[in-house]
Amino acid sequence: MAKIAQRYLDIDPWKLIESGFHEDRALVSESLFSLSNEYMGVRGYFDEGYVKETLIGTYFNGIYEIPKDIRRSHYKGISDKLHYMVNAANPFYVRIYIGDELHIFDPKKIEGYSRTLDFKTGEATRTYQVSNLFEITFKKILNMKTYQIAHQKVIVKPITYFGSITLAFGIDFNTMHWGKPGYWDLIEAKKNLSLGATTTNQSVYVGYKLDTRSDYQSSVTIENKLNLETLNLNLNTTIEIDKTIVSLIDKTKIRDLIFFEEEANKLLSVSSYDQTLKDNTKFFEEYWAKNDIQINGDALNQQGIRYCLFQLVGTYQGVSEHNNIGAKGLTGEAYSGHAFWDSETYCIPVYLFTNPKAAKNLLMFRYNTLSQARKRAKELDCNGACYPIATLNGDEACDLWQHASLQFQPTSAVAYAIWHYVKNTKDTEFLIHYGFEMLVEIARFFSSRGQYNHDETKFGYYGVMGPDEFQMMVNHNAYTNLLAKTSMEYLIEVYETYQKNHKVQEVMNKLNLKDSEIEVMRRKCQLMYLPYDETTKIYEQHEGFHDLPHLDIHSIPVTDFPLYANWSYDRIYRNDMIKQPDVLMFMFLYSTQFDLETKKANYDYYEPKTIHESSLSPSIHSILASELGYKKEALDFFGFATRMDLDDYNRNAREGLHITSIAAAWVNIVYGFGGLRSDGEIIKLSPYCPESWTSYQFHLQLFGSNIQVYVDKENITLTLDKDLDEPIEIYHEVYKLKKGIYKIHVAN
Ligand code: BGC
Repeated sequence: MAKIAQRYLDIDPWKLIESGFHEDRALVSESLFSLSNEYMGVRGYFDEGYVKETLIGTYFNGIYEIPKDIRRSHYKGISDKLHYMVNAANPFYVRIYIGDELHIFDPKKIEGYSRTLDFKTGEATRTYQVSNLFEITFKKILNMKTYQIAHQKVIVKPITYFGSITLAFGIDFNTMHWGKPGYWDLIEAKKNLSLGATTTNQSVYVGYKLDTRSDYQSSVTIENKLNLETLNLNLNTTIEIDKTIVSLIDKTKIRDLIFFEEEANKLLSVSSYDQTLKDNTKFFEEYWAKNDIQINGDALNQQGIRYCLFQLVGTYQGVSEHNNIGAKGLTGEAYSGHAFWDSETYCIPVYLFTNPKAAKNLLMFRYNTLSQARKRAKELDCNGACYPIATLNGDEACDLWQHASLQFQPTSAVAYAIWHYVKNTKDTEFLIHYGFEMLVEIARFFSSRGQYNHDETKFGYYGVMGPDEFQMMVNHNAYTNLLAKTSMEYLIEVYETYQKNHKVQEVMNKLNLKDSEIEVMRRKCQLMYLPYDETTKIYEQHEGFHDLPHLDIHSIPVTDFPLYANWSYDRIYRNDMIKQPDVLMFMFLYSTQFDLETKKANYDYYEPKTIHESSLSPSIHSILASELGYKKEALDFFGFATRMDLDDYNRNAREGLHITSIAAAWVNIVYGFGGLRSDGEIIKLSPYCPESWTSYQFHLQLFGSNIQVYVDKENITLTLDKDLDEPIEIYHEVYKLKKGIYKIHVAN
């Protein structure tokens, strides 16, 4: 591993704490102290303004823009439906005047700085003193249930300054996106701070209402897309102002401020800062009771994993089947808010075993966007459906042609996730009503995109890029070939099992699916080529990989990371360096199909070539390292995964959090140390406790029962709240577990 932690936060099991202001990490902190509730996300920027570089980012899930000036490509199949999650108005805008002097956050003028984020409430607090004159505290909270509501609290406490102070609370529609303004038009604004605004190109309407509910004298101004309520006060005792923000996205297209105000007023009448604090405390109590991961004996990773879980539930709880999980969640503009194959591969396993409804809704997102995937397949001169590498609305939005046109792991990830979900929930209703149609189209895509070699002895994919994005346009990438095969095979299995089902027949008729087409796919699966050497047991990542020039990854200076920013793009492609697991990835996804010896041979061959440039990489390596008994490596990788952003391993946390790698951290502990395997005939567990920990605990939702799994050095203790309807294998022994507590000796 070539990367190292840059630690600056205090360690606490339930909080993120920054003591003292770390100017060089200001943007990283803005990302880390982000809040979100699936509906909206807000970075931990300075409400009062900051004299240096800042990213004032507030985002709504699903509100995106399409640039007007996209250059349509003359080349067929080059994606040109680009779109991005647009930065919304800043509703936490505050300006503070001491007498006549404007106070903007300036590291030179402040002392006693501290900032916390509480995982039990979702409340973010920032406090500091200004030149020993007064102390100021900012608090922010987003309601986790009534998600259209957000609050801000500003508390000013005099120290030596007793005099006039002006607080101007507002909403600013001049926010920048990628450093440029002009993304919002203010359509209507009333003096009572009800506002209606639209995105400039797409015209999506959002109604806002701000309310400080203060008894102080105030005046309202509306100028230059900045709407302010100004309170003139006297600072002789502590002043505390709460501002509530309601935001409603107009799905009805009524675009009527009066109608919006009625809705907003209803929400306002039942909300207050304290009420949201109470609601959130209850929300998180319930969340942690079912989802907490405890690590005893490792304070760093304890904080890391709780932080991951906190940010994950903020990003997605499965409220809507039209939302997805952006690689950076709602915490920044990098990756344009897009969702990737990460959702099916890394996030669905988490939701599948903690909140199956959310897992289903993520799959429904793909069902709802099937028509765009069909169009994309056509653009690529193929049949069926090709899911996008990056998207917000279902259209391919990746502006790097080689990824958009050559990477098919998003498509196979959808088939894999349907299989994984159905297998572990037995939700055949979903399979028949939604899954089958997606599977037909996915299999058709793979059937049409693949080719036979010249003498028709092998079938596979030419000119592709697998999950390892450092190898472009290769032939017979083992991952692509294998996953295409399993995708088609799964369709064949479902077809054979359910072809008498009325709904399945309806889909077959609609799609004109015949036996003959299934037979063609069957032959392609039989001849699917996997480059594999029986003697070494190594799967070649793609044909020709073994011959590539070697690059010693330890010779790369740490300052060269991230490589994408410091090395020319083509330089990255010309050697055997690997970005993220490719062969090892399919050995994780289909773990039960590969024996230990094969996993070891491939791990020992590929890991030393891997730089983990993708945040998704360490966790998969940690899981395999655990299985192979490389326990120290497993723990090191785990720390990397849980604290990826907290310790800024990839040196790019300033751009936003790696939300999907946060999901991977859950996968890491549960599949790695817990030994969960969910790809075989039955669910398996084989937990062990890492040497430096005393114990740990996690939860699994399995077929309707919640199982608490506690692991120490000697035993594992399972506590079930209901009988488990399906058998489970623990250390090679099959159990039928009932409601209650079971103690089983840890096997070595
Ligand atoms: C990785 C992809 C991933 C994307 C979003 C890239 O760096 O290589 O596998 O889908 O990030 O997380």
